[in-house]
Amino acid sequence: MPKSDRKWPANRRATRERRAPSDRRSGAARRLADQAHAEAERRSGDERRIAERRTGEDRRDEAAWKPIVLEAAAADIYDDAALVAAAVDARLRARARFSGFKVGAALETAAGEVVTGCNIENATYGLTMCAERVALYKALSDGRDVFTRVAVVADTDDPTPPCGSCRQLLWEYCGDIEVILGNLAGVKKRLRLSQLLPLPFDARLLE
Ligand code: THU
Repeated sequence: MPKSDRKWPANRRATRERRAPSDRRSGAARRLADQAHAEAERRSGDERRIAERRTGEDRRDEAAWKPIVLEAAAADIYDDAALVAAAVDARLRARARFSGFKVGAALETAAGEVVTGCNIENATYGLTMCAERVALYKALSDGRDVFTRVAVVADTDDPTPPCGSCRQLLWEYCGDIEVILGNLAGVKKRLRLSQLLPLPFDARLLE
């Protein structure tokens, strides 16, 4: 069965059912966001870091750094606002010195984990990787396989939707997930990926 045909609504329901009541959400979400924020703040000098100029301190810093991958028990309580908050924190780690346009993404797995990504640019420009695909590739390479929601955040009044390449990759690996668009103030818009990619090309057409 092509991955895009997965029964995501069943997974989505399961994830929703496991969520804790709202009074528990804010506290835990805040704790998680605070941890992530402190970590991101510590690392936000990224634009100064060019590979050949890295200091021993930078390298020690990197050795200590752990990706933000929340365990299921904690992440079950995530709501849209908290998923956007995770993307806001991830955005602080963007390597966007060429465009100046920082993007953060947070991808939720069916098990309730959250894997974040930020855009990573380089001097060739063309090898840039968007925040959404960074999150997706991190999740896939860690063995995560079924996804429910993705949050995308930029510092814009109008929400920033995934680019065409990201829509394609998200569709093929996540199916018709919910896409939550936000900015630094929070959730701005919520839609399904099929609304962003209404006539997709995918593996079903190759069968
Ligand atoms: N970008 C993303 O990371 N995600 C999007 O949804 C749109 C664009 C990045 C790519 C590039 O680093 C910068 O934003 C400007 O295009």
